Amino acid sequence: MTEDLNNYKFSLKNDNLLLETFNLGIEKKQILIITINREKSLNAVNIDILKSLTNILNHVKNDSNILSIILTGAGNKAFIAGADIKSMSTYSPEEAYNYSVLGQDLVKLINSFEKPIIAAINGYALGGGCEIASACHLRYASENSIFGQPEVKLGIIAGWGGTVNLKKLIGLGNATKLLISGNTINSDEAYRIGLVNMVFPLQNFLLSVIKEVKSFCQNSPNAIKNTLFSINSSDNGESYTIESDLFRDSFKHEDSSAGLSAFLKREKPKFK
Ligand code: CAA
Repeated sequence: MTEDLNNYKFSLKNDNLLLETFNLGIEKKQILIITINREKSLNAVNIDILKSLTNILNHVKNDSNILSIILTGAGNKAFIAGADIKSMSTYSPEEAYNYSVLGQDLVKLINSFEKPIIAAINGYALGGGCEIASACHLRYASENSIFGQPEVKLGIIAGWGGTVNLKKLIGLGNATKLLISGNTINSDEAYRIGLVNMVFPLQNFLLSVIKEVKSFCQNSPNAIKNTLFSINSSDNGESYTIESDLFRDSFKHEDSSAGLSAFLKREKPKFK
């Protein structure tokens, strides 16, 4: 079935994203599969990727032939290992704030999207990766996946909606534990606490996700659109603002440079 994937024609500035479609066999209706393509950096998301993802979603919003979107990562080790620590390690507090707001704009766009967006999590979903997955309407994971919000181990906080969205998915206690421990959990535990909807074997993982998504693409797109709108109609504006302000503040504290540079030097950070 994955041999049926076709290129999706949309001009991208670089090859950090791969765009393919799966033909649903109903007129020209398709599923769009977006792959984050930075396998060597475990698909860490930089500013270019945030902007490209936002652009493509804004384009697809008006394409009536695309019924649903699957977001995944290249390779079989990572969905997204987080925001790009290499670029973040040189950020001023203002640059960090802008990075947070750009990421939040993307997660808000995903969350409020009128077509279902499904995270196909094929490995590490850490930090910003777990936040992007949490913003999607559904999360399907391969059995080798690892989830977590390790920001506190880097001396910073989650900046792309983690403090806003996780508690809605897995409850306040589970969200707080992930966000302040920085510890990771595996797919079984993620399923147990409701972070993922289903777990599939790694073999033929994308195929299994496509089969699931294909099944609900048979339903009325208009009814799905209105259902998603109704589910997501609560206002999170203030919580997002508090998060990006505090993300900036963490870059004013010496713990952030200690934590971010320790990761790059493969050392244990010394926090104040
Ligand atoms: N940013 C940039 N590069 C990253 C990265 C990230 N988030 N995660 C991994 N990489 C890079 C590594 O630096 C390494 O690159 P080099 O080969 O050039 O050194 C490459 O990907 C492979 O990584 P590892 O050698 O570390 O692979 P591993 O199998 O030993 O470990 C891992 C895998 C446990 C996921 C480890 O890479 C890791 O801990 N990554 C960081 C995860 C993290 O802290 N994410 C949160 C980022 S902060 C954030 O996301 C803020 C926010 O909310 C917006």
